[in-house]
Amino acid sequence: MPDKLNLKNSFKLYEEALELIPGAILGIRRPYNFVEGEYPIFFHTAKGGKVIDVDGNEYMDHLCAYGPIIIGHREEEIDNAVMDQIQNHGFCMSLTQPVQNELGKVLRELIPCAEKMVFMKMGSDATTAAIRVARAYTRREKILKTLTYAGWHDWSSDVYGIDAGIPDKIRNDTIEFEFNNLPHLETTLKQHKDQIAAVFIAPIHTPGGNEVELPEPGYLRSVKQLAHEYGAICIFDEIRTGFRINMGGAQKEFGVIPDLACFGKAMGNGYPISTLVGKAEIMDVLEHNVFLSSTFFPNSLSQIASLKTINFMQKNDVINTIKNRGSVLEKKIQESIDSSGVPAVYSGGASMPYITFRRDEQKLYKTLREEFYRQLIRRKVFLQPYHHGYICYRHTKEDLEYTATMIDESLNETKRLM
Ligand SMILES: Cc1ncc(COP(=O)(O)O)c(C=O)c1O
Repeated sequence: MPDKLNLKNSFKLYEEALELIPGAILGIRRPYNFVEGEYPIFFHTAKGGKVIDVDGNEYMDHLCAYGPIIIGHREEEIDNAVMDQIQNHGFCMSLTQPVQNELGKVLRELIPCAEKMVFMKMGSDATTAAIRVARAYTRREKILKTLTYAGWHDWSSDVYGIDAGIPDKIRNDTIEFEFNNLPHLETTLKQHKDQIAAVFIAPIHTPGGNEVELPEPGYLRSVKQLAHEYGAICIFDEIRTGFRINMGGAQKEFGVIPDLACFGKAMGNGYPISTLVGKAEIMDVLEHNVFLSSTFFPNSLSQIASLKTINFMQKNDVINTIKNRGSVLEKKIQESIDSSGVPAVYSGGASMPYITFRRDEQKLYKTLREEFYRQLIRRKVFLQPYHHGYICYRHTKEDLEYTATMIDESLNETKRLM
């Protein structure tokens, strides 16, 4: 097996950060979400489909900043447009700049439900705005939601079981329902009849640490129908699927148009932007009744980046390229899993590759998972044990060939522990 990586600088910075930041690092980037002691903790530089850590180790980046990097790191066309805005126009003004309208028109062309839209910065901004709009429109308060991450705000953020600081009265208004289980949704809607403002669902289910699940045929259509039957609106959380699965989001891919949808991550190739889009009749509550504002929402840099990102993606057929290369990778990984005999599972299709391990009573899967990801990081492939990965446009066929070979080797090494 390859030697343990030199991570001296990462650990030094981590020790320093412990004195500065509670827990050194926020959220999912903490070391316990990887294989502790084996993964780098700080990155230094990124370019295309690769990242370099603070000790000079270079990795194939298959986490892509948890989703925003759809084309590649430091993509010149996009960065140049942003720099032009900085140098020749400016981006933080007391009034809105026209790029808002340009981007709005592009989204209206691409996203089926996008009759109107508002621009924000974080995915959590968009999901929380969606909930407020739904509550205002329906004059109801409860939300039905699948158990996946939808942001850090109070209404949604006890997914990981870390929930101090969230008032019970707010938590109690968000009720979980099971993905791909229509009877469960219907029973839950019945239980809370006349109280549900929205059925909120990420169209591709990505429960942390578990396999990525695609919607069964007809499922999303039935979710929308049921929501409407019970007087609720249907919201798609497309923060991960938007501009990743299809330029029009999962709603375009699966042919089901929700009432509202949230986009973020990939729409800006790394620049912070999100949007809530939806039917005009519902979105219009934002005209008078619902308050939404931030000093930085109209800041135009990310809007410029998004416009350029979308333009680049259209010109270069980015999504199909990723899907074609991704499906070759998927096939190779599946073959490696089958021939290794390791109880691993591939999920996530061609766009969100994820390798998990079949749960067993003896909890061997935990050992296998740790060993597999240890082997993989030592071979310089950056994937996350508890989160699916991504492929970006700048990952070449050769890059993915490398990834496939390293996964194959890592699975074979992991087999020794069985
Ligand atoms: C499906 C989904 N919704 C919402 C969010 C929240 O987005 P952000 O982290 O940009 O606030 C995320 C973030 O991972 C997400 O994956």
